[in-house]
Amino acid sequence: MKKIALITGISGQDGSYLSELLLAQGYEVHGIIRRNSLPENQDSRIKDLDVITHYGDLLDAASINRIVNEVQPDEVYNLAAQSHVRISFDMPSFTIQTNALGVLNMLEACRSLKKRVKFYQASSSEMFGNSIDEDGYQRKTTPMNPTSPYGCAKVMAYNLCKHYRKAYDMHVCNGILFNHESPRRGSNFVTNKIVKGAVEIKKGKRKTLALGNLDASRDWGHSKDYVKAMHLITNHESPSDWTVATGESRTIRDMCEITFKVLDMDYRDYITIDSRYLRPHELNFLKGDSSEIRNVLGWKPEYTFDSMVGEMVNHWMEII
Ligand code: GDD
Repeated sequence: MKKIALITGISGQDGSYLSELLLAQGYEVHGIIRRNSLPENQDSRIKDLDVITHYGDLLDAASINRIVNEVQPDEVYNLAAQSHVRISFDMPSFTIQTNALGVLNMLEACRSLKKRVKFYQASSSEMFGNSIDEDGYQRKTTPMNPTSPYGCAKVMAYNLCKHYRKAYDMHVCNGILFNHESPRRGSNFVTNKIVKGAVEIKKGKRKTLALGNLDASRDWGHSKDYVKAMHLITNHESPSDWTVATGESRTIRDMCEITFKVLDMDYRDYITIDSRYLRPHELNFLKGDSSEIRNVLGWKPEYTFDSMVGEMVNHWMEII
């Protein structure tokens, strides 16, 4: 019998890579998508995949209950979210509802199932805010002091998942994933914005690229490696919480320097600063300790930072 997976947020970067991974392993893959006036915007990353999609919304509990009951999943990957931290300052209420109460709706829908479903929650390094352990890393025991409505909602969802695991003996896991990128990343996130902008400059399509804070530092991995971690986490015998990171941190300025260098340019000639891209409260530094998932589950990223940037540059060089 095929295993059945249900992915919320299936049309996103991670949802599409996870679908590919699960299909290759013989799963029947279902996903929830929201109605959009341009349907092309909904399925551009998954249109060639043999997945079954259902219309629903994390905030529409009736739709979620119906889908979960119809699909009878063995594994649920809850990746759907308002995932842009900067935008969460503009839409705090929507972000909190979707990223916290939406998770509650998913947990309740799964609790009502007769079968024991494995539940993965997309938790985030944004939950740590500016807390750093003495050794310079963040890990699941690091205090959570979120610096955005997005981070606050993710902390609530994280705690709800732990609570449901304990209170109802459910197989609920949190993956605390640090930033992860790819050519499929939305181009309003900083890595793909930089790569796309640099290629446009290289090809004479634009003269400058406006960014916000260049001094923030992030631990960037590749989404393809991180969806493998999601699958390992979900299928480990005992449900738990795991930190997934590369353990390397680079500033936005480093990202600019490396990307423009690959294209034989000096970023200082092209980058401008625009206060529109600054955040009311910034998370300054992320560097994750993923030794537990490496040691216990054998997870190891295949991409390096350079191979990831190279893949993203090649992608935009072909498209533009
Ligand atoms: N988006 C964006 N645009 N960010 C900019 C810009 C810009 O023009 N200029 C500088 N930055 C800085 C931001 O201030 C932030 O410090 C950093 O670049 C990364 O921003 P994003 O790429 O938007 O990602 P994020 O770190 O806020 O959030 C991502 O990672 C989280 C995990 O830590 C998202 O994927 C979240 O959904 C995820 O949970």
